[in-house]
Amino acid sequence: MSLQHVPDHFSAQCFLVTVLTTLLSTSSDACGKPPWYESMKLDGSPKMSYRTGEKVQYSCRPGYIKDPSLTTSSVCAANGEWSPIPQKACYKKSCPRQDDPINGDINFLNGSSEFGTQIQYVCNAGFFLIGEEILHCLLVGSDVQWSADPPICSKILCKPPPAIVNGEFSPSQKDVFEYHEVATYRCNRVSGKDELSLVGESQIYCSENRTWSAKPPECKVVKCPYPVIQNGRLTSGFSKKYSYKARVMFECNRGFFLHGSDTVVCDGNSTWQPPIPTCGSKPPPPTKPPPPTATKATPSSTGDPNSTNGASLDFGDSKIRIISLIMMTVLALQ
Ligand SMILES: *[C@@H]1O[C@H](CO)[C@@H](O)[C@H](O)[C@H]1NC(C)=O
Ligand SMILES: *[C@@H]1O[C@H](CO)[C@@H](O)[C@H](O)[C@H]1NC(C)=O
Ligand SMILES: *[C@@H]1O[C@H](CO)[C@@H](O)[C@H](O)[C@H]1NC(C)=O
Ligand SMILES: *[C@@H]1O[C@H](CO)[C@@H](O)[C@H](O)[C@H]1NC(C)=O
Repeated sequence: MSLQHVPDHFSAQCFLVTVLTTLLSTSSDACGKPPWYESMKLDGSPKMSYRTGEKVQYSCRPGYIKDPSLTTSSVCAANGEWSPIPQKACYKKSCPRQDDPINGDINFLNGSSEFGTQIQYVCNAGFFLIGEEILHCLLVGSDVQWSADPPICSKILCKPPPAIVNGEFSPSQKDVFEYHEVATYRCNRVSGKDELSLVGESQIYCSENRTWSAKPPECKVVKCPYPVIQNGRLTSGFSKKYSYKARVMFECNRGFFLHGSDTVVCDGNSTWQPPIPTCGSKPPPPTKPPPPTATKATPSSTGDPNSTNGASLDFGDSKIRIISLIMMTVLALQ
């Protein structure tokens, strides 16, 4: 385009002279193309060069507003530079102010609500967010708007917790539980020889996301086998029956060594945890390898790899420094 226009405005000779003058003169008294701004665009189309004192005018780009107290024009100065325009002459539009949600807050993730920024909604404890957590301030045409409607903070309420086999929870006559409200389970009494054990947590509470804090417990018969140990004996936990959470301790006979844990507990699956230990004639292998005897720093003449690395790095640095010096000298001499 501009190439086609050139012959219209300049004779070829005149054009050549202009180019040569621009290229040759070291202290030019003419300015080049006016600078590009993110917030503003030049009125009209730019020329190749401008005379000292020539003035250009900018306008705010879409999404930006003019500060009436600041100028958006620039003048070609005698030193060949364009006079600077204040940064804030055109500033970004902001999205409409949003009030804090009831029972929640807004975080301005980028410190403002100019277009391109984000805000985050956070609900107070006991409330949960319905809607978009993060809104973006968007530029649509020359206008700005939030990417979605503001969310709301709604009270956390839980449905009643799950029912369980052979047990029940209280309070039972409720349709909704409030945030942090507790449900307590217990196992049914059974008319048999084996009692039911409550395995898991007896109390759970209405928590975040309208879910219960834990799985409900189980009511089941827990009976661990009688603990037997060869070449050893029980030292505590003597009983006829071993039910849930029963604890037993062991000791080996003289001359034997305990392999495993000296204490075991009857778990919810009617097994001993950890497994029942054994008594062996040899001591158990050490469970942990002894801490490595701190390798003494031996500054040997061969040198350790790190100090070598350091030396080569220093060498590289000084090489760069020498090259820079040479280049600077060459430039200074030109
Ligand atoms: C705004 O903040 C968010 C979260 O810290 C970040 O991911 C994003 O890049 C920021 N945006 C701008 C325009 O600074
Ligand atoms: C609630 O749900 C969100 C998203 O599904 C998840 O990131 C968060 O960890 C949950 N909180 C709890 C306490 O379970
Ligand atoms: C019982 O065993 C099952 C399957 O092996 C396991 O998932 C569960 O955690 C165990 N329960 C207890 C209380 O140890
Ligand atoms: C030697 O360098 C290696 C990695 O280059 C590093 O992991 C190690 O800690 C260093 N040793 C000493 C003694 O600085």
